[in-house]
Amino acid sequence: MKELTELIQEDMKEAFIKAGYDGDFAKVTVSKRPDLCEYQVNGAMAAAKKYKKSPLEIATSVVSCLNSSLIGKADVVSPGFINLTLDSKALSLYLEKMAEDEKFGLEPVKDPKNIMMDYGGPNVAKPLHVGHLRSAVIGESIKRILEFTGNKVIGDIHLGDWGTQMGLIITELKIRKPDLPYFDPEYTGDYPKEPPFTMAELEEIYPTASAKSKKDKEYHEKALEATRQLQDGRRGYVALWKHIMHLSVNDLKKNYERLNVSFDLWKGESDSKEYIGPMVEKMKADGFAYVSNGALVCDVSQESDKKTIPPCMLLKTDGAALYDTTDLATLVWRMKDYHPDRIIYVVDKRQELHFIQVFRCARKTGIVPDSTDLTFIGFGTMNGKDGHPFKTREGGVMRLSTLLDDVESKMLEKISSNDDMSEEEACDAAKKIALAAVKYGDLQNVASKDYIFDVDQFTAFEGNTGPYILYTIVRIKSILKKYKEKFGALPAISFGPADSGAARELELSISGFQRAVRQAADELAPSRICAYIYDLSEKLNKFYHETKILAIEDVRERENAVSLVRLAMNILNKCIDMLGFSAPDKM
Ligand code: ARG
Repeated sequence: MKELTELIQEDMKEAFIKAGYDGDFAKVTVSKRPDLCEYQVNGAMAAAKKYKKSPLEIATSVVSCLNSSLIGKADVVSPGFINLTLDSKALSLYLEKMAEDEKFGLEPVKDPKNIMMDYGGPNVAKPLHVGHLRSAVIGESIKRILEFTGNKVIGDIHLGDWGTQMGLIITELKIRKPDLPYFDPEYTGDYPKEPPFTMAELEEIYPTASAKSKKDKEYHEKALEATRQLQDGRRGYVALWKHIMHLSVNDLKKNYERLNVSFDLWKGESDSKEYIGPMVEKMKADGFAYVSNGALVCDVSQESDKKTIPPCMLLKTDGAALYDTTDLATLVWRMKDYHPDRIIYVVDKRQELHFIQVFRCARKTGIVPDSTDLTFIGFGTMNGKDGHPFKTREGGVMRLSTLLDDVESKMLEKISSNDDMSEEEACDAAKKIALAAVKYGDLQNVASKDYIFDVDQFTAFEGNTGPYILYTIVRIKSILKKYKEKFGALPAISFGPADSGAARELELSISGFQRAVRQAADELAPSRICAYIYDLSEKLNKFYHETKILAIEDVRERENAVSLVRLAMNILNKCIDMLGFSAPDKM
C-alpha cells in the first residue's frame, strides 16, 4: 500500500500536467501549519519562475484541474500555496486498509538488501558497563527497523577477545598461580575442564592487571609478550583463553538477554585469526603493505584529506595483530561467507578515525568491493547530570546490570501504589518499564549526540519518555478489556469519518506510520520512530480524554472509536518492538 503523501502527490501531479505545467512541481509535504491544512504543495512558486506567470495564477489553475478522491479541500493561498485537507471518507478507508495489513500498509523495500550489523562489541573478561549500552540499544533497534522494512539482517556481536586484555589476564594469573599447568611449556597432557577462576575473580583480575601494567613497564612488556604468544597459538595460553571465553560469553548472554538484545553471530576478533596471515601476505605481494619503523602498515591517506589520516597498522614490530588488523581480517570472512550488500557498524564516535582507516584500506586492497556499502554510525557519550561520562557515585565505571537494577527498583517503587497487581506482575512490569525508560531515553536522541542520562526524567510517566508511551498502551489495553467485559468481543475493525478534532488528529497521526518507518530506515535513525510514537501517543491520549468510549450510545460510533484506539495501540506496540522493548498489561 502506497504512502499517503505519495498517493496525494500522484493526484497533484496529474493536476499540474493537466493545467499545462511540469508534474515535478507537484511535491507534497505534510503541513507545517496543521491549524490551516493537513498537506501542502508549494511548487507553484518555483513554477512561476519557469513559466513567467504569477504563482497565484498557476496554483489556481492547478486546483481547478484537480480531480482526487483523496483530497476533500484544496485552497489557494497567497502568494501561491496550495493547502490540502484530506477527504474524511478517503482517510478512514486508508486506515481500514492499514488495519487489515499485518505491517500496517508498509510496503517492503523494492530491492531487499543483505545487511550485516556489527554492534554490541563488548570486551571479554571485562564486566559489561554502561559504555557498551548505546551500541547494543541503537544497533538492535536499527536491525529491527531494517528487518521490518524487508531486508535480511545478520547481527554480529564482534567480541573484543583477541587483544592485550587477554595477555594482561594471563600475566596476572601467572603471578598468582604459577604452578598451573597452563604455564608449563613442557606440559603435554590435557588441561583441566574447570576454569582456574570464577567470573567474579576474572572481573577483578583484569582491572588489577591493567592498572599494574600502566605503572610497571616490565609487567606491560610481559603482557604484550603473552598476547603475542597466545596469538601464535601457545597451547596453554589458548586453553586459558578458552576458559575466559566460556565464562565471559555465558555472562554476556545473560546481560544481553535482559536488555532484549540478541545476536545471530557471536563471533569475535579472534575469529579473524586464520585470515590475518594470508591477508597480510597478499597486501605485501600487491605492494600495499610496507614496513615503517618496524611495523607493517598500509597507507590510506588521500589527496583531498584536510587532516592527516595515518596509515593502517597491520602488524606490530613483534608481529602481533592490532585492532586495525582484526577488523580488516573480519571483513575478509564476512565477505567470503555472507556476501553482504552493506555492513553497518554501530560504535562510539570516538572510533571514527579507526573506521575511516579500515574502510579505506579494505577498499584499496580489494577486501571489500565497491558494491558493498560500509557504514559507520558513531554514537555520542552517555553523560551523567554533571555533563561528564556517566559514572557510579564513587566515580567508577558503572556496570550495566547495576544501572538496570537501580532503574528497576525505582520503577517498582513507583508502581507499588497500584494494588491491582500481584507481586509477580509488578516485578515483570517494573522490568519492562525500566527497559523502556533506558532505551527510549537513549533512542529518542540523534545517535551522534551526547546525552544526559537523567533517571528522574527518563522514568517519568509524563512527557517524552518510554514509560509515557507504555502508559498510553496500557490505558488502551485496559479500555479494550473493559469493552469486552461490557459488550462481548471486540468489533471487526471499522472506521467512519472522524467526528471530532481529536479523532481527526489521531487518524492523521496513525496515517503517518509508513512515512516515519521509512525515514527511520533510510536514515538509520530510531529517533524518527520515537518522535512518531510520541506524537501518536499525545493524539491518542487527547482522544481518550475527550471521548468516553464505553459510554457512546450509538453502536456504530462506539465501534469506530474502539477501532481507532485499537489500531493506534497496535501500531504503538509494533513501534516499540522496533525500538526493542515491550509493554506490560498493567502499570
Ligand atoms: N570492542 C570494541 C570496544 O570496546 C568495540 C568493537 C566495535 N566493532 C568493531 N568491529 N571494531 O571499543
